Parts: sequence; structure tokens; C-alpha cells
Amino acid sequence: MKNKEKPNTLLVCVNRRLDQGMASCANRGSEEIAQALERGISERHIDITLEPICCLGHCSEGPNLRLAPGGSFFHDTTLDEVPNILDILETRCGLRSKTDPIPSEKRSSNKV
Ligand code: FES
Repeated sequence: MKNKEKPNTLLVCVNRRLDQGMASCANRGSEEIAQALERGISERHIDITLEPICCLGHCSEGPNLRLAPGGSFFHDTTLDEVPNILDILETRCGLRSKTDPIPSEKRSSNKV
């Protein structure tokens, strides 16, 4: 990973194409990967927010994840790789204080 800027968002493509002949991340298991990552981020207090996204433009290499800002991609991810990805996220992003609100609580508290 070239960019050393601290990522604050993990974009996870959960796009599902109805045409089974066309590649899409959800057809390859990205929704289960997103759930496992969300659970791991919460349990380990990793300082990053997971954001489901519709397409990252690398459909034939999915499931795809991307760190933002920074732009590092994870391609062809599998459920088995989730613990390793969580280790990378912890190293790159650090941990939230256990008293900090979880990112989804921060988002909802910002609503008017
Ligand atoms: S469908 Fe996931 S990158 Fe396009």
C-alpha cells in the first residue's frame, strides 16, 4: 500500500446483478463478507466505518473492498480472509476508545 493517509472508511461493494452471466460482488459473497467485517470492526473497536457501496468498477475481480481516503483495494476477497483484513485495518486505522460512540451512532447523532 503506497498511500499512508489514515483511512476512515472501508467501502464494500454489495452490488448484485440480476443477470447471472455478469460478474458482481454480491453474487460472489460480498454481503456475508461485509457482515463479518462489520462484526469484527465493532468487536475489535477498529477506528473505521464500513460503508456498503454499489460498485467499485472492478466487477470481474470481486468481491472488492476499498479504503478511503487512500484508495487501496482488496480484490477477490473471501470470508477466510476477513481476520487478516481486520488485522490490516487495525494496523492502518488504529482503535477507537471504548467510550467513543460506534460510527453508526455518530452518523445518527449528526442527523437534524
Ligand atoms: S459489482 Fe462489485 S465492483 Fe462492480
